[in-house]
Amino acid sequence: MANVIVIGAQWGDEGKGKITDLLSRSADVVVRYQGGVNAGHTIVVKDQTFKLHLIPSGILYPKTECIIGCGTVIDPEVLLRELDQLKELGISTRNLLISETAHVTMPYHRLIDQASEERRGSHKIGTTGRGIGPTYADKSERIGIRMLDLMDQQGLHEQLEWTINYKNVILEKLYNLPPLDPQEVIDEYLGYAERLRPYVVDTSLKIYDAVRRRRNILFEGAQGTLLDLDHGTYPYVTSSNPVAGGACVGTGLGPTMIDRVIGVAKAYTTRVGEGPFPTEIHGEAGEHLCSRGAEVGTTTGRQRRCGWFDAVIGRYAVRINGMDCLAITKLDVLDELEEIKVCVAYEIDGENCEHFPRNARQFARCKPVYKTLPGWRVSTSDCRSLEDLPGKALNYLKFLAELMEVPIAIVSLGASRDQTIIVEDPIHGPKRALLHPETTSASLLSA
Ligand code: IMP
Repeated sequence: MANVIVIGAQWGDEGKGKITDLLSRSADVVVRYQGGVNAGHTIVVKDQTFKLHLIPSGILYPKTECIIGCGTVIDPEVLLRELDQLKELGISTRNLLISETAHVTMPYHRLIDQASEERRGSHKIGTTGRGIGPTYADKSERIGIRMLDLMDQQGLHEQLEWTINYKNVILEKLYNLPPLDPQEVIDEYLGYAERLRPYVVDTSLKIYDAVRRRRNILFEGAQGTLLDLDHGTYPYVTSSNPVAGGACVGTGLGPTMIDRVIGVAKAYTTRVGEGPFPTEIHGEAGEHLCSRGAEVGTTTGRQRRCGWFDAVIGRYAVRINGMDCLAITKLDVLDELEEIKVCVAYEIDGENCEHFPRNARQFARCKPVYKTLPGWRVSTSDCRSLEDLPGKALNYLKFLAELMEVPIAIVSLGASRDQTIIVEDPIHGPKRALLHPETTSASLLSA
């Protein structure tokens, strides 16, 4: 029995969908604990591609229970579309449960998100425009609508009438937008409520019950550590807690019941939206990574910014999440490169810095200190074991393990489930010591 959290170790889009999908095979329950429809997982199974925003990828396994926890925010329109899409593809959604205390994204949240971004001008965050920040803001302001409110016809009427009139003042006076018609919104959302009612329960009870029955639970983080509201590159972050700690708050499970934390990082780095990104590559190599890695956002279709692997933020992610092991994804994207850079430290105003600075202005001034490693220049996408990998690719992985001070348990070399090397059991611990930091050669660090 193991309760495992899977988190993104960078700025999101690390390929968590594929890793959680792989791990879901041995999970009885898969739980999403934060974020909303800003997330997007692409999962490729045989010739079918699934794009999921809210529903955990475990839904593709008929016996796995999937839970959307209380720390998430739910856009019912998008969720219902996702449910319909799965049903059309013949995938049962019978095993899905939604927390009754998860907050609901309303039309005014989306409108305010988009209008406030426009108003910010050069200070914009580059949000997904899905209303995520305003939904969490209402949760903190204690004027949010929760799933259980949505289920209560009379209560919803009263609550929404007041809230929409309040939000209309903001829409009209602050953003010059037309007001919303409270009755129209109420009717629309009551329609959603009827369809979602069978899924809505106290999920914290279900999760606790699963723990007591010694079921394997997988907690699936959305976004990534550097997008965390408290621990990321604030203010260029999302409004929830993607870090491992968020799994407890976002589900109602105590920390003593978590066994393991698995991080996921790309073999390079990407970022969507605004904010400092020290290892960003502006030239040809960046464009190569972008096109070779198909770096386009699942949710917004925006092109992702691409850069070299940043071991400073990697080490930070290991620490903040208490990471036990790491999955490295998209190694194959580096196949054609002659040389590959890895950021081992930063230089700020002439000083060497090995730690991620928490001040955004300071972070913006960080210049990466690179180690350059030779590329392997052969295809790795058909490799199925470490022995199949070219020596230089193996050295690259060892170098990352050493720098981040964490063992690499999984290496992914393509979108398909089978394009994966399981180095060691990511859930139960070491099987082989090949990619453990303590066993990698010190001389690699000075390579
Ligand atoms: P929001 O979550 O829509 O408020 O956006 C805040 C920041 O998080 C923006 O920089 C987004 O691009 C980024 N973001 C949100 N969700 C994701 C994701 O799933 N992957 C990568 N970046 C994301």
